[in-house]
Amino acid sequence: MTPLIPLFIILLLLLFSPRIQSSSFPSQALPTRSGYLPIDPTSNSSLFFTFYEAQTPTSPLPQTPLLLWLQGGPGCSSMLGNFFELGPFLAPPSPQPLLLEPPLRPPNHRQPHRATGFASPPPLRHPPQPITVANHLIFALNNFLSSDPSIRSRPFYVTGESYAGKYVPALGYYILKRNELLAAKKRINLQGVAIGNGLTHPAAQVATHADSAYFSGLISERQKKDVEELQDEAIRLVNERNWSAATDARNKVLRKLENITGLATLYDLRRKKPYQTEIVATLMNQREIQEALGAKEGLRWEECSETVSEALHEDVMKSAKFMVEEIVKRSRVLLYQGVFDLRDGVVSTEAWMKEMEWEGLEGFLEEERSVWRVDGEVAGHVQGWRGLTHVVVGGGGGRTRGGVHRP
Ligand SMILES: *[C@@H]1O[C@H](CO)[C@@H](O)[C@H](O)[C@H]1NC(C)=O
Ligand SMILES: *[C@@H]1O[C@H](CO)[C@@H](O)[C@H](O)[C@H]1NC(C)=O
Ligand SMILES: *[C@@H]1O[C@H](CO)[C@@H](O)[C@H](O)[C@H]1NC(C)=O
Repeated sequence: MTPLIPLFIILLLLLFSPRIQSSSFPSQALPTRSGYLPIDPTSNSSLFFTFYEAQTPTSPLPQTPLLLWLQGGPGCSSMLGNFFELGPFLAPPSPQPLLLEPPLRPPNHRQPHRATGFASPPPLRHPPQPITVANHLIFALNNFLSSDPSIRSRPFYVTGESYAGKYVPALGYYILKRNELLAAKKRINLQGVAIGNGLTHPAAQVATHADSAYFSGLISERQKKDVEELQDEAIRLVNERNWSAATDARNKVLRKLENITGLATLYDLRRKKPYQTEIVATLMNQREIQEALGAKEGLRWEECSETVSEALHEDVMKSAKFMVEEIVKRSRVLLYQGVFDLRDGVVSTEAWMKEMEWEGLEGFLEEERSVWRVDGEVAGHVQGWRGLTHVVVGGGGGRTRGGVHRP
């Protein structure tokens, strides 16, 4: 395992301008930079970001990796990842005075640095295609990277989770394509992508829910058949390219599973209560905090955007596998899942990985899965071959996501 990469950028899909002074926001929790990045040359639409520089980098800064974090949804804000899952400071459980608290980390853990942003989405007239999403992200990213030549040359990784299992490959794929056409100093120094608990090749993934729940002991053989029927319907609709109905059919599978298992969330079969992500909304909707982060006045932060979700309804069941195949040949791909996720977890990822068209697949499947230890304790399991690494995170759920650093 490579050591914890000490730098992130977080891009937020949010509607939030330049920064004012902070007051209640603890100064050590302020991002190194934050604000808006335009997504194209003509519209006024932009992405909000926060950037956190590495606090204890293990290499000189020009060699310190830069990570971009993209949330899932579709349409959820990366501030969720920032303040709930993996940022250097996490929102405290409500209700209590909102002071950010440092995340729980083993004492020797390096504190990551990060970068993030806030954005305002473009008017959505047509369902956005992966290339549109990728072009917007690349435009915003180039704006960020052009701020300082030493930033552009740093090793760059695209990361994200869940529905970002679509955006991450799309961004990686189009960065590689564009790099071919650009002079070296204008390229984005992409070194790899990482997808956590991702939805990437849904037709294969939707077929695994019944097995996953059944072999976890949560449903009976009879109920397994019911869930399989619903899954088959989703797959049939994908084969017919009836995308919108296929998305609805997958939602039916998930709702059925929630109903018969009674689980608080499919993201983590251990949880007794849903994730309390509303604490992030409480945080983000305080004007002082918005000012500290440089968010535009008069905007209300929402965890996930209905508009984006609706616009991408037809995209949900479409595959991004071909883009991963291209990245794995030319760069590196890390797929990681929390072992307790029943939604886009290990079983689901295993299913689509095996369908990859990649000459290294056979070698990958032949590899042993080895034990990954942190401070002598089993932290998970790792299997890797050439450009592909698969990590199963022990003790984590779908929000490995919160699940890794927090109970
Ligand atoms: C962008 O914003 C400026 C100033 O608010 C406005 O004059 C202009 O019409 C806007 N452009 C678009 C394409 O919305
Ligand atoms: C898509 O599937 C739905 C649900 O089965 C059906 O009602 C609809 O007619 C289908 N649309 C097309 C274009 O086949
Ligand atoms: C599942 O759905 C049925 C029928 O709508 C309902 O009666 C039952 O309470 C639901 N079970 C759970 C655990 O939500």
